[in-house]
Amino acid sequence: MEDSIDVILQDQNTKFLHRPQDSHHLSMVLGGLLVGFYRLWTMFVQPGFRKVPIKLQVPYLPSSTIQTQNVMKLLEGRKGCLADLGSGDGRLVFAASSLGLQSTGFEINSILLTYARSKAWWKGIPTYKATFVNKDFWKTDLSRYNNVTVFLAPGVMEVLEKKLLAELPDGARVISCRFPFPHWPSVGTEGAGLDQVWAYDINAVRRIAT
Ligand SMILES: C[S@@+](CC[C@H](N)C(=O)[O-])C[C@H]1O[C@@H](n2cnc3c(N)ncnc32)[C@H](O)[C@@H]1O
Repeated sequence: MEDSIDVILQDQNTKFLHRPQDSHHLSMVLGGLLVGFYRLWTMFVQPGFRKVPIKLQVPYLPSSTIQTQNVMKLLEGRKGCLADLGSGDGRLVFAASSLGLQSTGFEINSILLTYARSKAWWKGIPTYKATFVNKDFWKTDLSRYNNVTVFLAPGVMEVLEKKLLAELPDGARVISCRFPFPHWPSVGTEGAGLDQVWAYDINAVRRIAT
């Protein structure tokens, strides 16, 4: 009897030893499917994304309500045009347009772009107040915008500093969400933790850059 239990246990051990291999194969198949799905997604849904260098790619994450309010506090009293670099579902663009800024969202994800445009249409917001452009902002001349909002990723901030410094007009203000610019002096900040945002005046940045 004892012998037969030993045999059963040994048999189970042998089966058990084979299982990790099975699950290894399964995870390889699942991994392959996920990579394939992601490739299809980037090929068809985000065609613009393929052309953005990997280290500059930023995924979608919407601003929270508090973060949006913090951005608006730092834009109070501002006039002119605003660009939101990577506008997602358009929430910063809509909020800025309600402050009276002529707001443009640049977005390469066509699903988000269609959603933002539909929302603008649904709310009856005319395009001269809020508009959405299907364009890679890295390849866009930003010299007409005297207000810029960004909610991107830490890895792109240094590159973005150079682009904005080269292109923005004197008097421009930049608001950065969650991730501050590494070398710029901020002129104000609102909120804390994940909702913290910083304001930068390009004149002050230029003064220290020269
Ligand atoms: C973190 S989300 C922020 C969305 C929105 N600004 C907000 O605060 O809710 C960043 C967005 O930038 C977009 N994006 C990333 N790289 C871009 C690029 N080079 N040109 C245009 N949009 C880009 C992404 O598709 C994503 O929707």
